[in-house]
Order: sequence, then C-alpha cells, then structure tokens
Amino acid sequence: MSDDETDPLQQILAKHETFHARLLREEASTLEGKKRKHGSSSKCTPISMHRKVEQERDNEEVEQVEEKNGNDGFRQKKRRSLPSRDETHLFDFSIENPFDGKLKDLACVRSLIADFPNVVFETPTSYCHYGYPYQKRTVFITTLPTFRPTPPCPKRPCAARQNGFKHGQQAARSSSAQKNSIPNGLVDELVDAWMRRVGKTALQFLIVDVFSGWGSVSSRIQTRHPRVHVFSNDIVDRSNINMTLDMRTFSLGSLLILAASRFWTDEDDLRRQSEHPDGILGWLRDEKIAVLLHISTPCETYSTNALARHRKRGTVEPKTQEAVTADAMNERIVAYLRRGLNFCV
Ligand SMILES: C[S@@+](CC[C@H](N)C(=O)[O-])C[C@H]1O[C@@H](n2cnc3c(N)ncnc32)[C@H](O)[C@@H]1O
Ligand SMILES: [Zn+2]
Repeated sequence: MSDDETDPLQQILAKHETFHARLLREEASTLEGKKRKHGSSSKCTPISMHRKVEQERDNEEVEQVEEKNGNDGFRQKKRRSLPSRDETHLFDFSIENPFDGKLKDLACVRSLIADFPNVVFETPTSYCHYGYPYQKRTVFITTLPTFRPTPPCPKRPCAARQNGFKHGQQAARSSSAQKNSIPNGLVDELVDAWMRRVGKTALQFLIVDVFSGWGSVSSRIQTRHPRVHVFSNDIVDRSNINMTLDMRTFSLGSLLILAASRFWTDEDDLRRQSEHPDGILGWLRDEKIAVLLHISTPCETYSTNALARHRKRGTVEPKTQEAVTADAMNERIVAYLRRGLNFCV
C-alpha cells in the first residue's frame, strides 16, 4: 500500500458500510439474472446527432475477426450496423488474457460478447509487434471500438519474422515481471482509444488497474497521462499500489468505492458517494468521471501451460479446485461489468 494511503481498509469500508452491503446484494441479484433488458430506458443524456453519425460511420468500419476454421488467421469483415450504446456513457473496461488460453472461452465471457454486440469487442494481438523479443499472443475484451492493435504474429508477422528471424527469448523463460508486463505501446493504444471515446464528454478520468501485478499499466499511464487518476490493486504488493484486495472475495464495486474515496475526498463528495441512489456508478456518472476498469486476470488456470492440469482435455471445464475458484471470480467480475453496461446502455 502506498505511504499516503494511511486510512486502513476497514475504516474506509466502514464509512460505506450500508452502501457496500446494498452493492453486494445488487450484485447477487445480477447473478440471479435480474439484469435490465438491453435497450431499456437509459438514464444518460440523449446522444447528440453528431456523435450518433460518428458512431454509425464507425460501425461500418472494417474489423479483424477470427476465422471460423479456428486457426489464427484473420480476415477482414464489415462490422455489422447494430445499435450501439449511448456515446456519453462513461463506463469502460478491458480484460486481458492469453489469446491461446481459455479465459475467453468461459461461458460468461462468450455471453458478455454475444449479448452486447457492437459494444464489447474481442481484439487479439501479440507483444512482438510492440518491441518485445518474444511473441506472447494476447486478447483484449473491451468496450473501446477504436482499440485495434496489430493482429497477432505469425499470421500478421512482426518485424523480426518479416526479416527472417525467429522470436528471441521465449516468454516462459523471462522473469515474471517481464512476462506479465504489457508493452508501453500497447498500453498507449488502449488509453488513446479510451480517450477518443470519452475525452469529449468526461470531466475527469479514473483507471482502476484491478490486477496491477508489476505495475506496467499503472506506471505507464501515470507517466504519460498525469491527469488520469490511477487506482491499483493486486493481492501481492509488488509495486506502488493502493490496495491488496483479494478479488475472489471483493467486488469491482468495492474497488470503485475505494478509488472514489481515495481521489474525491472532501466530506461532501464522500457523503454523496455513499448516499447516491444509483450507488457509486451513479455518482461517477453524475460527476462525469470516466472509468476504465483494466482487468489483467490471472491466467494460472487458463494459459496453454496450465490447461492439462486445470481443465478437462480440449474444454474449458475445470477439473481442479483452483480452476473452479478462478472461474467463480471471473463470473463475478463479468456480472459486475454487465451491470455497468446495463446501467446506461
Ligand atoms: C497477469 S498478472 C497482471 C500483470 C499486470 N498487468 C502487470 O503489468 O504486471 C495477474 C496478477 O493478478 C494477481 N492476483 C492473482 N490472484 C488475485 C486475487 N485473487 N486478487 C487480486 N489479485 C490477484 C497476481 O498477483 C498477479 O499480479
Ligand atoms: Zn512475432
């Protein structure tokens, strides 16, 4: 925990006790399927005609999609013109995990993508395109339509491959810090896409780095975007983080409450944060604070190396208690993301 973070967790949560309990109840009801219907009445301000035209044009742009044959090829496909969410909505997320792993195949992740067409996108890439000596293929599941990193190597060969070289040092042999750190160029593309989406509407910016690890995302953003508030959490305190909450038991809502009470601290703000009838999402919306939840979910039971041990052969089905627990954590995370999207779609 950073030095200036003197308030113990219990003190902060006590301040929000009533609201926190309600938040968890709401999450539970989301899990029971009490979600609002896509397209139901929105509490957001109406979309301006200009932004709508921009969005519709964007809907027609091409995107890279995985080929049906399941290999790593990509073909160009027209993005279907589907209703997209209110452009003034300030809630975004990015989930990152290995492209060749199984997290993206969890039922909750597949339905998140399927139930929010033109809102949630699946975008793969590989770190070798961003200056890393090893390939590391990864996939982002995001709400950022203009986040389109270079498609993964080798189908789209990186500079080394184009020049006839093999990938250098393999990720598996790298240090944990290097293996887990997202290249600066990729973080920049992610944040630039977020700024393009919310930059004209938001008055303030908050990134919550939910599994901040060795701090590659947080530190890059703090250096390049000093105006953006970054709130970092990881169960292990390796870098300058704000919280060490275990996301198997704490919710994204708790993290948002803590982040808000860390950066918007006067008595009036704290009171309105805890008393807002729509909870912390309502307070953030009213304050026009754009939120990006960055979720580098632990891949210990999803990566290719882990599959033989943790998943039934050829499937995503868990066969160890660790895998069951990891799936439960990610289901809760995705349930909260759905709630955030339904809040204002
Ligand atoms: C893929 S790494 C994140 C890497 C990060 N993007 C970076 O730049 O270093 C996943 C992180 O999740 C953390 N983690 C694992 N289980 C957790 C849990 N239950 N709650 C919170 N953090 C957890 C690990 O300590 C690890 O740092
Ligand atoms: Zn490559």
